[in-house]
Amino acid sequence: MGIETSCDETGVALLRWEPAQPGRGLLAHALYSQIRLHAEYGGVVPELASRDHVRKLLPLVRQALAEAGLTPQDLGGVAYTAGPGLVGALLVGAAAGRAMAWALGVPAIGVHHMEGHLLAPLLEEDPPRPPFVALLVSGGHSLLVEVKGIGEYRILGDTLDDAAGEAFDKTAKLMGLPYPGGPELARLAGQGRPGMFRFPRPMTDRPGLDFSFSGLKTQVLLAWQKSDRSEQTRADIARAFEEAIVDTLLIKCRRALQATGAKRLVIAGGVGANRRLRAELAAAGEQDGFRTYFPRPAFCTDNGAMIALAGAIRLAAGQQQGESVDVHPRWDLSGLPPAPQALAGQE
Ligand code: KG4
Ligand code: ZN
Repeated sequence: MGIETSCDETGVALLRWEPAQPGRGLLAHALYSQIRLHAEYGGVVPELASRDHVRKLLPLVRQALAEAGLTPQDLGGVAYTAGPGLVGALLVGAAAGRAMAWALGVPAIGVHHMEGHLLAPLLEEDPPRPPFVALLVSGGHSLLVEVKGIGEYRILGDTLDDAAGEAFDKTAKLMGLPYPGGPELARLAGQGRPGMFRFPRPMTDRPGLDFSFSGLKTQVLLAWQKSDRSEQTRADIARAFEEAIVDTLLIKCRRALQATGAKRLVIAGGVGANRRLRAELAAAGEQDGFRTYFPRPAFCTDNGAMIALAGAIRLAAGQQQGESVDVHPRWDLSGLPPAPQALAGQE
């Protein structure tokens, strides 16, 4: 069982471990989004998030078990997100997951949320095998990672300020869109006309793989304030903003592939659901001769299935958690232990 409660979605999934084709072992996944709860405040309120996880987690566990036709006694292990994330929210999933494993006499494992995102494409048909480069773009992180094996992660690039998803959300808010604005801004961008506005591609004019998206938001604000503020203009600006982000990510991905010699690119995290990003990276792959791997959009954003998968891989490698309830609100991805040969077909 995988449990996700790091931010504003409660996710529970059940996975039977099938190393050659992990997605085929997915038996059930249930998700509850707190979006409506936080919308009136314009962003996630941590204490409300924790309380809502408390309310929704066990009903979701029951729902997932019923969907899979299983009882708790059928479980062979419990994985939960142990960080990074909101401390109170993490504690709900960790305490419930650890207690359930203890009561059932099965192993528990605390999963790194970004490793969950990174491994999510393995839930699809024809899953990628390491080595590969991963672009992880979520609300809290923008990372380029060289993946030599499970748990062998070298950070190639990181964000110096706003993460890509955060840039989408803050920019949407500036133009008056309700929380969480990212997906809505992306939808608007689809109605924008090309070439009406143009924003810079931050930090692409010098070498390096780090990102900085906070200046882009100021550029958008200036353009929006000077404009006629019509619906069409909002869509035109949204389009130019989305193009700037996608183009920047594409330039950095190309550099990372060149620097590592990797032939596979994995894209994951909430922004991985973005249609323009998916189309542009896939087209670049065809042009340059690298393969792209995306999770389905529902597994780009937070979910329990990716936590069940990352947990299953680590349990299969013989790793497990002690009996204490530990969470890590900040947690470095490159400090994780390797889990060699956990996957069938790893090079
Ligand atoms: O991975 P995720 O669900 O949560 C974190 O771990 O942060 O990512 C959420 C982020 C939000 O910032 C949201 O605005 C963004 O992903 N996002 C999108 C799209 N769907 C979600 N950004 C751009 N286009 C989308 N279609
Ligand atoms: Zn996430």
